[in-house]
Amino acid sequence: MAEVILKKVEKEYPNGFKAVHKIDLNIKDGEFMVFVGPSGCAKSTTLRMIAGLEDITDGEIYIGNKLVNNLEPKDRGIAMVFQNYALYPHMTVYENMAFGLKMAKVPKIEIDKRVKEAAEKLEITDLLDRKPKEMSGGQRQRVAVGRAIVRKPDVFLFDEPLSNLDAKLRVSMRVRITQLHKQLKAEGQTATMIYVTHDQVEAMTMGDRICVLNYGKIMQVDTPLNLYNFPKNKFVAGFIGSPSMNLVEAILLEENNAFFVVLDNDMKLPLPTEKFERVKSYVGKKIWFGIRPENIGNKLTNPEESPKKIIGKVNIVEQMGNEEFIHFSIGKTQYSSRVAVENSCNLQFGNISEFYFDMDKCHIFDFETEENVSLIN
Ligand SMILES: Nc1ncnc2c1ncn2[C@@H]1O[C@H](COP(=O)(O)OP(=O)(O)O)[C@@H](O)[C@H]1O
Ligand SMILES: [Mg+2]
Repeated sequence: MAEVILKKVEKEYPNGFKAVHKIDLNIKDGEFMVFVGPSGCAKSTTLRMIAGLEDITDGEIYIGNKLVNNLEPKDRGIAMVFQNYALYPHMTVYENMAFGLKMAKVPKIEIDKRVKEAAEKLEITDLLDRKPKEMSGGQRQRVAVGRAIVRKPDVFLFDEPLSNLDAKLRVSMRVRITQLHKQLKAEGQTATMIYVTHDQVEAMTMGDRICVLNYGKIMQVDTPLNLYNFPKNKFVAGFIGSPSMNLVEAILLEENNAFFVVLDNDMKLPLPTEKFERVKSYVGKKIWFGIRPENIGNKLTNPEESPKKIIGKVNIVEQMGNEEFIHFSIGKTQYSSRVAVENSCNLQFGNISEFYFDMDKCHIFDFETEENVSLIN
């Protein structure tokens, strides 16, 4: 069992800066948990506290039911992979992978077996005699992962391991790491993984669950799809998804027992009845209105007349090949819409066109607390 449990964990650095504010988190045995958030939100600090590389100011950390606050990193059953690989330059790949085991006095035969097995899993058997400088960044990172695997840790900790790789290699390495997690689990290893990234696409594609952090606080912990569909607050709504959710200031209005979201230029969009109850206390108030680009269509995606259509002015169209992103404005406010190419209206800069808002998919956030007040439980 290698659950990782954080109870009211805090971190204040010696200079008085409070990086982590009382976070509570339960990472399940064998789970792939991703920490995601903007630079400086304390992803590394939190990971390093779990690893034992950073003291905890307050709270408790448990790994596999054992309180580890005062345990040395080497006694926590963890292995860590860093962004900069941290390989020993004078050692071969084989020696780099074997080093930790040698220090732990594992018998030579066992070391040899584990190094060769790990090398095979990562397809680096051909590289075992090379030195780090004779390899590409991607190969070095595979060696760094291999060095973690041979230790057979209960918990793998990854701190932005793919950030130094080019875009294409990042995609193939992220698939490899996800597969590795499944493979280790299939072989009966615990393989709880905690993976830090600032890249929401990595988070979405790799995580069983994602913990979204901002300013040292947990914004939401959930599966990728739940974060995408049911963001608890404006931060998560804007951070998860690419291109980002449209988030604009608006006013909520009640007219003849119906609710409307009023945008710039007094453009009104009707809110679906299911959401009335949840948001009624916001009538007459400023709110944040959120809608994803794929939930704004054009007159081909929705040819009928509808009160959910409004007129906007096209600023720029980004062609993706299979779809296009149309950036348009209503009054002074900018929006993005995302439409499949087969529904393209061939819009261009300056065109005035209809845009259809799928209001069933919209979100309303409290203007002050930024909490999502339109989620229907
Ligand atoms: N040794 C330190 N002393 C003081 N502040 C630090 C120290 N290390 C990190 N910080 C601050 O703590 C915050 C979180 O840092 P970090 O965990 O590295 O963020 P992330 O990994 O999410 O980019 C940042 O504001 C950073 O400047
Ligand atoms: Mg970091």
